[in-house]
Order: sequence, then structure tokens, then C-alpha cells
Amino acid sequence: MKIAVYPGSFDPVTNGHLDILERALKIFDKVIVLVAVNNQKKPRFTTKERVEMLRDSTKKYGDKVSVDSTEGLTVNYAKQVGAKHLIRGLRAVSDFEYEFQLSAANEYIDSDVDMIFLMSHKETSFISSSSIDDLFRNGIDISQLVPESVVKMYKKNK
Ligand code: COA
Repeated sequence: MKIAVYPGSFDPVTNGHLDILERALKIFDKVIVLVAVNNQKKPRFTTKERVEMLRDSTKKYGDKVSVDSTEGLTVNYAKQVGAKHLIRGLRAVSDFEYEFQLSAANEYIDSDVDMIFLMSHKETSFISSSSIDDLFRNGIDISQLVPESVVKMYKKNK
């Protein structure tokens, strides 16, 4: 079985992330969506909340998708679950530099785990987790940009 890990902050998950996930499912038998720690970011939602939103928005994929979290390195997690690939989405040239560095660091940790980059669709490429936060806090409808579980979580935390 070909397994991939899709790591990210998912703070919160957006339709852009789900688009990447759906396309990864065409390549892999199973994808584990992994809530991981980005040291450069201060999370808006707790890990538990992010996992909950992801579980709810990916339940339609059944056993093909599972959701987990880690405080450690994504490469180490991938090794533990027998995955040789990490999935990431690329939206624009501006994402490239960060992803390039991440890829180099991951290769240094263990070159046996490769990163696969999928290009975001143009319909979702303008979405980011921080723009969702700004839109919601300014009273703009976010329901076309994120799964229902995220809208519910925002309303609950208001
Ligand atoms: N469409 C639209 N938006 C997208 C997208 C897509 N396909 N893919 C990502 N984004 C957006 C997100 O909404 C998010 O927006 P924001 O910057 O406003 O929050 C941004 O792009 C990136 O977020 P995301 O992909 O959720 O997570 P990340 O880039 O913060 O994830 C980790 C980085 C967690 C994978 C990385 O830090 C990591 O691997 N950490 C664990 C420790 C480790 O192993 N480090 C590496 C070796 S040192």
C-alpha cells in the first residue's frame, strides 16, 4: 500500500488544502494528514481543534484518509508509519523558497523520504489560513472557502 503524509499547520484547514489532498489521493492509496508544528507561527486554534476540523472535513474519504498530530519532525513521523513521501501544495513563486528550504532540511534528516509538490488550482490559490481569519473577523462570509467544520469552529469560538 502506498502511503503519503500531508503535513501542515492547518490553522485552519481550507478548501485549498482539501484540493491538494484530493489530488494526492489519486496518487496514493492512503494519505495521513498531519498537524505539525511550524515554529514560525503562533497557532490560532489548538492542535485538538485543528485535528477535529480536519477529521470532520475528511470523513467522506473513509479509510483512505486519517488525521494525526505530532510535536516532532515530519520525516520521523513518516518513517514511523512506513511512508516514503510527504505532500505539500505550492500556490505561487512566493511559496517556493520556504518549501525549498523545508525540502533541503528534510533531505538532511533522511533522504529516504521524498517531498511531492502539487500545484494549487487557480480557484483556491488565493486562499490562506490567515486571510480566512481576517475575512471572518471582518464579517465576510467564508463558507465558500473552507469546509463547514471550520465555519462552525469559528462561530463556536467567537
Ligand atoms: N491552497 C491554498 N492555501 C494553501 C494551500 C493550498 N493548496 N496550501 C497551503 N496553503 C496556505 C495555508 O492556508 C497557510 O496559510 P497561512 O500562512 O496564512 O497560515 C500556508 O499556506 C501554509 O500553511 P500550511 O501548509 O497549513 O502549513 P505550514 O506551511 O505552516 O506547515 C510544516 C509547515 C508544519 C509542514 C513544517 O513547519 C514542518 O514540517 N514542521 C514540523 C517540524 C519539521 O519537521 N521541520 C522540518 C525540518 S527542520
